[in-house]
Amino acid sequence: MKRLALALAAVLVVLAAGVGVEAGEPEMRGVSNPQQARIDYMLKCQGCHRPDGGGDDRSNPPMKNVVARFLKVPGGREFLGRVPGVSTVDLDDVRLANLLNWTLYTYDPAHMPADFRPYTAQEIGRLRRHPLRLERAPMRARLVAGFEQERTQTQSP
Ligand code: HEC
Repeated sequence: MKRLALALAAVLVVLAAGVGVEAGEPEMRGVSNPQQARIDYMLKCQGCHRPDGGGDDRSNPPMKNVVARFLKVPGGREFLGRVPGVSTVDLDDVRLANLLNWTLYTYDPAHMPADFRPYTAQEIGRLRRHPLRLERAPMRARLVAGFEQERTQTQSP
């Protein structure tokens, strides 16, 4: 009986994977449920970041075509898991890891590092225990300044 249940579970996993491919979803590492991520983004993030990730000119930074650049500068990966919009949202670690990985792939595919290690629930759980407070503005400015350096370094022979 137990074996049958296991076999059935395996079949379901394969089917679920197939559905994603059929729906034309590009491969997103660490995103086991893109539909859930899309809904979570709508409910928890787009009020500030806008549906297209474009943000606004006043207080909410755009994520579109830029957010994955944080992954390439030292400290950026941790920053993404600790900004208050991410770390304090009322989603469990599994859903939040799924959502953050999805957000990066969806809004900034071009800057995704080839060797991207998806956020796991464990890592997210660890990072969100230390939400950033007022120090986040100077920290963000330092990381963004690093984007330019990173580009110069990559371009230099
Ligand atoms: C109340 C508005 C608000 C909500 C809701 C919000 N954010 Fe943010 N987010 C911000 C602001 C403002 C920043 C810039 C850093 C800071 O000051 O917190 C930011 C920064 C970020 C960053 C770092 C990139 C950068 O440019 O600083 C990521 C990634 C991010 N948010 C993702 C999310 C996700 C995912 C959600 C939904 C779970 C979310 N945010 C919800 C306002 C918000």
